[in-house]
Amino acid sequence: MNLIVAITGGSCAIYGVALLKALEELKVQTHLVISRMGEYVVEHECGIRLDELKSMATFTYNNDDLAAPISSGSFKCDGMIVAPCSMNTLAAIANGISINLVTRAADVTIKEGRKLILLPRETPLSVIHLENMLKLARIGVKIMPAAPGFYHQPQSIEDIVHIMVGRMLDQIGIDHSLCKRWGDD
Ligand SMILES: Cc1cc2nc3c(=O)[nH]c(=O)nc-3n(C[C@H](O)[C@H](O)[C@H](O)COP(=O)(O)O)c2cc1C
Repeated sequence: MNLIVAITGGSCAIYGVALLKALEELKVQTHLVISRMGEYVVEHECGIRLDELKSMATFTYNNDDLAAPISSGSFKCDGMIVAPCSMNTLAAIANGISINLVTRAADVTIKEGRKLILLPRETPLSVIHLENMLKLARIGVKIMPAAPGFYHQPQSIEDIVHIMVGRMLDQIGIDHSLCKRWGDD
Protein backbone atom coordinates (compact mmCIF):
# COMPACT_ATOMS: atom_id res chain seq x y z
CA MET A 1 0.00 0.00 0.00
CA ASN A 2 1.21 3.45 -0.99
CA LEU A 3 -0.58 6.47 0.52
CA ILE A 4 -0.37 10.25 0.32
CA VAL A 5 -0.80 11.92 3.72
CA ALA A 6 -1.32 15.68 4.00
CA ILE A 7 -1.45 17.79 7.14
CA THR A 8 -2.98 21.26 6.78
CA GLY A 9 -3.57 24.13 9.19
CA GLY A 10 -6.62 22.97 11.11
CA SER A 11 -6.55 22.48 14.83
CA CYS A 12 -6.24 18.82 15.93
CA ALA A 13 -2.97 18.20 14.10
CA ILE A 14 -2.58 15.37 16.59
CA TYR A 15 -4.74 13.22 14.27
CA GLY A 16 -2.31 13.68 11.38
CA VAL A 17 0.67 12.91 13.61
CA ALA A 18 -0.99 9.76 15.03
CA LEU A 19 -2.06 8.65 11.55
CA LEU A 20 1.49 8.91 10.25
CA LYS A 21 2.82 7.00 13.26
CA ALA A 22 0.24 4.23 12.79
CA LEU A 23 1.03 3.92 9.08
CA GLU A 24 4.75 3.71 9.86
CA GLU A 25 4.10 0.92 12.37
CA LEU A 26 1.88 -0.87 9.86
CA LYS A 27 4.70 -0.57 7.29
CA VAL A 28 2.60 1.38 4.83
CA GLN A 29 4.61 3.50 2.38
CA THR A 30 3.70 7.16 2.91
CA HIS A 31 4.18 10.36 0.90
CA LEU A 32 3.90 13.30 3.28
CA VAL A 33 3.20 16.93 2.49
CA ILE A 34 2.48 19.58 5.13
CA SER A 35 1.17 23.08 4.44
CA ARG A 36 2.91 26.05 6.05
CA MET A 37 0.03 26.50 8.52
CA GLY A 38 -0.03 22.74 9.04
CA GLU A 39 3.58 22.98 10.24
CA TYR A 40 2.67 25.90 12.48
CA VAL A 41 -0.20 24.04 14.14
CA VAL A 42 1.82 20.82 14.54
CA GLU A 43 4.52 22.74 16.38
CA HIS A 44 2.00 24.72 18.43
CA GLU A 45 -0.22 21.80 19.47
CA CYS A 46 1.73 18.56 19.35
CA GLY A 47 5.11 19.09 20.99
CA ILE A 48 6.85 17.24 18.18
CA ARG A 49 9.68 18.60 16.04
CA LEU A 50 8.95 18.79 12.31
CA ASP A 51 12.04 16.74 11.45
CA GLU A 52 10.83 14.05 13.86
CA LEU A 53 7.39 14.06 12.22
CA LYS A 54 8.84 13.94 8.71
CA SER A 55 11.11 11.04 9.67
CA MET A 56 7.99 8.90 10.19
CA ALA A 57 7.10 9.21 6.50
CA THR A 58 8.73 7.21 3.71
CA PHE A 59 8.92 10.28 1.44
CA THR A 60 8.31 13.96 2.16
CA TYR A 61 7.71 16.83 -0.24
CA ASN A 62 7.59 20.60 -0.05
CA ASN A 63 4.08 22.03 -0.47
CA ASP A 64 5.43 24.42 -3.14
CA ASP A 65 6.88 21.57 -5.20
CA LEU A 66 4.22 21.19 -7.86
CA ALA A 67 6.62 19.00 -9.86
CA ALA A 68 6.77 16.33 -7.13
CA PRO A 69 5.78 12.78 -8.21
CA ILE A 70 2.46 12.91 -6.32
CA SER A 71 1.30 15.84 -8.46
CA SER A 72 0.90 13.53 -11.47
CA GLY A 73 -1.86 11.02 -12.17
CA SER A 74 0.80 8.70 -13.61
CA PHE A 75 2.20 8.27 -10.09
CA LYS A 76 0.67 5.06 -8.75
CA CYS A 77 -0.86 5.23 -5.31
CA ASP A 78 -3.78 3.84 -3.36
CA GLY A 79 -5.29 7.07 -2.08
CA MET A 80 -4.84 10.19 -0.01
CA ILE A 81 -5.79 11.32 3.48
CA VAL A 82 -5.80 14.99 4.54
CA ALA A 83 -5.80 15.14 8.35
CA PRO A 84 -6.57 17.70 9.54
CA CYS A 85 -8.10 19.41 6.53
CA SER A 86 -8.52 23.16 6.96
CA MET A 87 -11.58 24.88 5.49
CA ASN A 88 -9.16 26.72 3.20
CA THR A 89 -7.77 23.50 1.73
CA LEU A 90 -11.22 21.92 1.62
CA ALA A 91 -12.56 24.91 -0.36
CA ALA A 92 -9.66 24.74 -2.81
CA ILE A 93 -10.17 20.99 -3.35
CA ALA A 94 -13.94 21.41 -3.78
CA ASN A 95 -13.30 23.98 -6.49
CA GLY A 96 -10.44 22.28 -8.33
CA ILE A 97 -7.89 24.90 -7.36
CA SER A 98 -4.42 23.34 -7.41
CA ILE A 99 -2.48 26.16 -5.82
CA ASN A 100 -0.04 23.94 -3.91
CA LEU A 101 1.02 20.29 -3.73
CA VAL A 102 -1.68 19.32 -1.19
CA THR A 103 -4.50 20.62 -3.38
CA ARG A 104 -2.90 19.38 -6.62
CA ALA A 105 -2.44 15.86 -5.20
CA ALA A 106 -6.06 15.88 -3.99
CA ASP A 107 -7.27 17.07 -7.41
CA VAL A 108 -5.30 14.24 -9.05
CA THR A 109 -6.67 11.71 -6.54
CA ILE A 110 -10.22 12.75 -7.48
CA LYS A 111 -9.65 12.74 -11.24
CA GLU A 112 -7.98 9.32 -11.09
CA GLY A 113 -10.94 7.95 -9.10
CA ARG A 114 -8.81 7.03 -6.08
CA LYS A 115 -9.86 7.19 -2.44
CA LEU A 116 -9.71 10.64 -0.89
CA ILE A 117 -10.42 11.10 2.82
CA LEU A 118 -10.67 14.52 4.44
CA LEU A 119 -10.73 15.13 8.19
CA PRO A 120 -12.13 18.65 8.51
CA ARG A 121 -12.22 20.57 11.79
CA GLU A 122 -14.08 23.79 12.25
CA THR A 123 -16.97 24.90 14.40
CA PRO A 124 -19.51 26.19 13.77
CA LEU A 125 -19.66 25.25 10.10
CA SER A 126 -20.86 27.97 7.73
CA VAL A 127 -23.08 27.32 4.71
CA ILE A 128 -19.96 27.75 2.55
CA HIS A 129 -18.13 25.00 4.50
CA LEU A 130 -21.17 22.69 4.34
CA GLU A 131 -21.72 23.27 0.62
CA ASN A 132 -18.07 22.53 -0.13
CA MET A 133 -18.28 19.30 1.88
CA LEU A 134 -21.53 18.29 0.17
CA LYS A 135 -20.01 18.91 -3.25
CA LEU A 136 -17.07 16.63 -2.41
CA ALA A 137 -19.21 13.95 -0.72
CA ARG A 138 -21.38 13.78 -3.87
CA ILE A 139 -18.37 12.74 -5.95
CA GLY A 140 -17.27 10.08 -3.46
CA VAL A 141 -14.79 11.97 -1.28
CA LYS A 142 -15.10 10.70 2.31
CA ILE A 143 -15.70 13.55 4.73
CA MET A 144 -14.72 12.36 8.20
CA PRO A 145 -15.12 15.25 10.67
CA ALA A 146 -12.85 15.10 13.70
CA ALA A 147 -15.75 13.73 15.75
CA PRO A 148 -14.79 10.56 17.63
CA GLY A 149 -17.46 8.44 19.30
CA PHE A 150 -17.35 8.00 23.07
CA TYR A 151 -19.25 4.72 23.35
CA HIS A 152 -16.10 2.79 24.30
CA GLN A 153 -15.37 5.12 27.25
CA PRO A 154 -11.95 6.35 26.09
CA GLN A 155 -9.56 6.89 29.02
CA SER A 156 -7.00 9.17 27.40
CA ILE A 157 -6.46 11.61 24.57
CA GLU A 158 -4.58 8.81 22.81
CA ASP A 159 -7.68 6.57 23.02
CA ILE A 160 -9.80 9.35 21.51
CA VAL A 161 -7.30 10.04 18.73
CA HIS A 162 -7.00 6.32 17.92
CA ILE A 163 -10.76 6.10 17.41
CA MET A 164 -10.54 8.58 14.52
CA VAL A 165 -7.28 7.19 13.14
CA GLY A 166 -8.78 3.69 13.21
CA ARG A 167 -11.88 4.87 11.33
CA MET A 168 -9.69 6.50 8.66
CA LEU A 169 -7.69 3.28 8.26
CA ASP A 170 -10.97 1.34 7.97
CA GLN A 171 -12.05 3.62 5.13
CA ILE A 172 -8.82 3.16 3.24
CA GLY A 173 -8.95 -0.62 3.82
CA ILE A 174 -6.02 -1.16 6.21
CA ASP A 175 -6.35 -3.73 9.02
CA HIS A 176 -5.47 -2.45 12.49
CA SER A 177 -6.16 -2.93 16.17
CA LEU A 178 -5.99 0.73 17.21
CA CYS A 179 -9.45 0.90 18.76
CA LYS A 180 -12.29 -1.27 19.97
CA ARG A 181 -15.30 -1.97 17.81
CA TRP A 182 -18.92 -2.02 18.84
CA GLY A 183 -19.63 -5.59 19.88
CA ASP A 184 -16.06 -6.25 21.14
CA ASP A 185 -15.91 -7.75 24.66
C1 LIG B 1 -3.71 27.73 15.97
C2 LIG B 1 -4.55 27.74 14.73
C3 LIG B 1 -5.63 26.88 14.64
C4 LIG B 1 -6.43 26.87 13.49
N1 LIG B 1 -7.47 26.00 13.42
C5 LIG B 1 -8.21 25.92 12.32
C6 LIG B 1 -9.26 24.94 12.22
O1 LIG B 1 -9.53 24.18 13.14
N2 LIG B 1 -9.92 24.86 11.05
C7 LIG B 1 -9.64 25.67 9.97
O2 LIG B 1 -10.28 25.52 8.93
N3 LIG B 1 -8.66 26.62 10.04
C8 LIG B 1 -7.95 26.77 11.18
N4 LIG B 1 -6.95 27.70 11.26
C9 LIG B 1 -6.75 28.63 10.15
C10 LIG B 1 -5.95 28.01 9.00
O3 LIG B 1 -4.66 27.63 9.45
C11 LIG B 1 -5.84 29.03 7.86
O4 LIG B 1 -7.12 29.19 7.26
C12 LIG B 1 -4.84 28.68 6.80
O5 LIG B 1 -4.98 29.59 5.72
C13 LIG B 1 -4.97 27.27 6.28
O6 LIG B 1 -3.99 27.09 5.30
P1 LIG B 1 -3.73 25.66 4.68
O7 LIG B 1 -5.05 25.16 4.17
O8 LIG B 1 -2.77 25.90 3.56
O9 LIG B 1 -3.14 24.80 5.73
C14 LIG B 1 -6.14 27.74 12.41
C15 LIG B 1 -5.04 28.59 12.50
C16 LIG B 1 -4.27 28.61 13.64
C17 LIG B 1 -3.10 29.57 13.74
